[in-house]
Amino acid sequence: MDANRLKGKHILITGAARGMGAANAEAFAQQGADVCLGDLDLDEAQKVADRINDAGNGKAIAVKMDVTKREDNAAAVAATVEAFGSINVGLFNAGLNKPRFFMDIDEDNWDMIMNVNTKAMWLGMQETAKQMIAQGPGDEPYKIINVGSIASRKPLVDVTVYCTSKYGCLALTHCGAVALAEHNITVNGYAPGVVVTPLWEQLDKDLVDIGFKEKAGQAYEDIVRDALQIKRVSYPNDIVGTASFLASRDSDYMTGQMIHIDGGWCIQ
Ligand SMILES: NC(=O)c1ccc[n+]([C@@H]2O[C@H](COP(=O)([O-])OP(=O)(O)OC[C@H]3O[C@@H](n4cnc5c(N)ncnc54)[C@H](O)[C@@H]3O)[C@@H](O)[C@H]2O)c1
Repeated sequence: MDANRLKGKHILITGAARGMGAANAEAFAQQGADVCLGDLDLDEAQKVADRINDAGNGKAIAVKMDVTKREDNAAAVAATVEAFGSINVGLFNAGLNKPRFFMDIDEDNWDMIMNVNTKAMWLGMQETAKQMIAQGPGDEPYKIINVGSIASRKPLVDVTVYCTSKYGCLALTHCGAVALAEHNITVNGYAPGVVVTPLWEQLDKDLVDIGFKEKAGQAYEDIVRDALQIKRVSYPNDIVGTASFLASRDSDYMTGQMIHIDGGWCIQ
């Protein structure tokens, strides 16, 4: 890894206490970025920030935030600016899933997933863009990075609300790219497939509970066999290269793109 590739980047990452958010925070800081880790779970986010500060390249702070609240998004942006002087990248990563078959979806399931995965992304993008616009256009683009999913493009029957929320992330990426270009802000995203994180471990159990799979681990096996071209699941470290590219100057001329990092699932 180039220790200076992200030098001068001040990056807010939501959902950074664990999983891909934490892995990206560590990878960004190893490349010189200063990172603000926002999460509901402040203790775990602080542990990641401590590891980053101990490692000694980019700096890190942790903030408690509920991404579904506008004031928490505004406060996380303000904390980033207070700690590092400005914000030039926002990575909207916080997300969750709770599978239900179509006819079993209720309002609670709908609201929980849509609020965290989609509404919160819109709030984070808006509060971050407000600050970027106030900072002025600068010589290099500001970057918004949205986390989509294979579920941004495929109708998966067991996770209809999750699909709806992640198709929404794709729409926010397209609409944001058009709306914010005049302010020198690019909006891109990446879309994982199966990444072994606490989210997937819970999903694996929930798929057995709703009767979609018979046993733990079956979802992984079925997807690898039937859907992936690269015959293995992925891990957070498979994701950090693409996220780093989108945060870096190497992606300056890209906007409105959602890159799939899914072992080839999207072409199946
Ligand atoms: N794991 C996968 O296979 C997979 C695949 C495709 C897309 N994704 C997406 O990647 C992103 C990260 O997923 P992950 O697998 O690393 O998940 P994870 O469960 O490991 O981490 C998610 C983090 O988000 C935080 N969070 C949840 N709700 C929050 C809220 N309201 N406010 C603040 N923080 C909140 C959690 O505390 C947690 O630290 C999500 O958007 C997810 O939908 C995951």
